[in-house]
Amino acid sequence: MEQAGRILIIDRKSRVRQETAAVLRGLDFQVEEVDSGDQARMALKNSAYQLILAEVSLLPGGGVEFLLGQDAILSSTAVVLMASATSVDDVAAVMRAGASDFIQRPYGLDELCLRLEKSLKVRFYEHELTYLRGERDIIYRFENFIGESSAIKEVFALLSKVSNSNASILISGETGTGKELVAGAIHYSSPRAAKGFIKVNCAALHDNLLESELFGHEKGAYTGASRQRIGRFEQADRGTLFLDEIGDMSLGTQAKLLRVLQEKEFERLGGDKTIKVDARIISASNKDLAKIIQDGDFREDLFYRINVINVHIPPLRERREDIPLLAVSFIRKFAADLKKNTTTLHPDAAGFLKQHHWPGNVRELQNCIERAVLMSDGSEIVKEDLLFMRSLIKDGGDGEVAPVFEIPPQGLKLDDMERALIIETLEICNWVQKDAADMLGISKRVMNYKVKQLGLANARWLKNK
Ligand SMILES: Nc1ncnc2c1ncn2[C@@H]1O[C@H](COP(=O)(O)OP(=O)(O)OP(=O)(O)O)[C@@H](O)[C@H]1O
Ligand SMILES: [Mg+2]
Repeated sequence: MEQAGRILIIDRKSRVRQETAAVLRGLDFQVEEVDSGDQARMALKNSAYQLILAEVSLLPGGGVEFLLGQDAILSSTAVVLMASATSVDDVAAVMRAGASDFIQRPYGLDELCLRLEKSLKVRFYEHELTYLRGERDIIYRFENFIGESSAIKEVFALLSKVSNSNASILISGETGTGKELVAGAIHYSSPRAAKGFIKVNCAALHDNLLESELFGHEKGAYTGASRQRIGRFEQADRGTLFLDEIGDMSLGTQAKLLRVLQEKEFERLGGDKTIKVDARIISASNKDLAKIIQDGDFREDLFYRINVINVHIPPLRERREDIPLLAVSFIRKFAADLKKNTTTLHPDAAGFLKQHHWPGNVRELQNCIERAVLMSDGSEIVKEDLLFMRSLIKDGGDGEVAPVFEIPPQGLKLDDMERALIIETLEICNWVQKDAADMLGISKRVMNYKVKQLGLANARWLKNK
């Protein structure tokens, strides 16, 4: 534990309490002392503690209720109980309710300090583990960022220069170009790698919620804030804070963020304690921030703060030579996941993939390959596996999705297309005509007519022969 915490001692015995407090202060802890349940309640309302050292009978509402009930404190607080030999039964119940440890009276101060340090450590690592669990499926490494085009080589050259510094980086690029992958790789190859890579999606939350996500809040800071919350900035201390989709942040939140970046300190919402942080900032946006600044929706001063170094990841269609490379790497990955032995990409299929516009960039390519591997029977992905490749893109911004088909260079017949589409949909729906009709937005009667007209009535039966 690098950082001494804030401790609340709840104990009636003033001499022991004062002695204990003095020793802990000597160890750099910030200590507050109270001698009654009511005072404890007040203290807990006003501040947050990393550790509470308490006489069981003085915990507000009783120990078990305190830990389980509405007075329960946040998961990052350790509770250590002081108990006399006669109250061991009570202690067992309170321990089961989630207390960290107990120490029997009379105790030596050395033993107490050891116990407290251990409890703080355990809580700290439990807290870290919760965040790491969220990260474990994604492996952010530069080796996993595939590309040999000159455009990508330039990006790599820049990244190798800046990863070790503390400079703020803004990653720009269309959706699916790999901004998050790059942000993670920068963090994990930097001297901050052992600390957290903490992500915040600024588009997902607005104003108050985003601010509480970033800066945390004290219990009771606003209606509904029933527990204290440690914000992402605090979690990112000595690590990296990744502000994704920063172009969507409101002007009010931008102002608060700017202050934190300038002063490297802040207060939790509803709190008055100033918290110092040392977090490296990496931001990303698929919007053109210069344009948002012109429209008056993004602060220019904040832009300069976060954009000390700009890393632009070009869209896939501007580095088409990377497409086969990426495709083969995804084929191997999905073949392994799906336990298939598909390993290669036929040159015709590679050529076909290189022609596509890829509005969804690498993510779209990845999805397309996943599907092709799933459908393929051979050891190689051939053009036919990709013929029905289509991407779902948003049209006009009204939220509707429209299918877009890749038309092969030699063209295709509408009748064949309709037939293939109907068969494929029926396959997906296990040949339940009503479900397939729903999927294609036609009535069951029309579907039934088409099945007969296309001679598919016995197709399932034939297929299963
Ligand atoms: N060069 C690459 N090599 C391998 N995988 C890549 C590459 N670029 C992107 N990916 C993969 O494509 C997917 C999309 O990447 P990522 O989430 O980093 O994109 P993004 O730019 O953050 O997209 P968005 O703007 O939509 O959030 C991820 O699964 C990522 O691992
Ligand atoms: Mg992203």
